[in-house]
Amino acid sequence: MMNWHEIDRQAKEWVKEAGEKIKASFDKSLSIQTKSNPNDLVTNIDREVEEYFFDNIAQTFPDHHILGEEGSGHELNTLDGIVWIIDPIDGTMNFVHQKRNFCISVGVYENGIGKIGLIYDVVHNELYHAIKGNGAYMNDMRLPKLPDVKLEESILAINATWVTENKRIDPSVLTPLVKRVRGTRSFGSAALEFAYVATKRLDGYITMRLAPWDIAAGVVIVDEVGGITTTLDGNPIDLLNKSSILVANPSIHAKIVNDYIKGKYSS
Ligand code: IPD
Ligand code: CA
Ligand code: CA
Ligand code: CA
Repeated sequence: MMNWHEIDRQAKEWVKEAGEKIKASFDKSLSIQTKSNPNDLVTNIDREVEEYFFDNIAQTFPDHHILGEEGSGHELNTLDGIVWIIDPIDGTMNFVHQKRNFCISVGVYENGIGKIGLIYDVVHNELYHAIKGNGAYMNDMRLPKLPDVKLEESILAINATWVTENKRIDPSVLTPLVKRVRGTRSFGSAALEFAYVATKRLDGYITMRLAPWDIAAGVVIVDEVGGITTTLDGNPIDLLNKSSILVANPSIHAKIVNDYIKGKYSS
């Protein structure tokens, strides 16, 4: 039997230590590079933090696999065994421009099932965490199950990109939903947006293309409070590939899919 509490304790120690490294970098000059396009940023700190996790995991748990954004992990084509799915800094643009509103995201999966989720908002010292079946927490505070909410009283996270001309969805699809909800927000860190759905700061989050490391931890945490994560059109997520995402309070998830998405968009 795997001791998930022990793995969780160890993972939290590394996440906190990685957070200290990131805070220490605030006084030093960053080396910033671009990846797929001029707005797709990576810094030396993203890479150093990912390597820190890789070295520690490989040394402590040599039979575990690692999937990470910046390439220090393994090339995986299955989720068999134990897989750590890591985003060393989620919200790199915020990290570079704001020095806040970013986090470290670590999910640990066994044969494709999420067992541990850790999302650490370094600057606010807020650690969102969950072990499957044991509830979700923000630091020491247990997060309650999500209460029902009406769509017209809900707050939805969505980037303005998806309601303007873009290559993934006709902007007219999401416009009626944006008009219906009480308000929209965009925080620039997918993992934090998941954490905010879990804490009811948001009732839902929609985005058109996320990678496994953006969502692996968030899915576990949201699940513990009854939230639902699927593709935008309501299908299960494939954690080896990129996909659209709808994560929401259970009382509005199906309504969004059925009344606003079905027949207008399919992934
Ligand atoms: C990005 C952030 C952003 C989301 C992008 C992600 P990164 O992750 O989560 O909010 O809109 O799709 O790629 O690159 O900062 O780790
Ligand atoms: Ca990135
Ligand atoms: Ca990310
Ligand atoms: Ca990242």
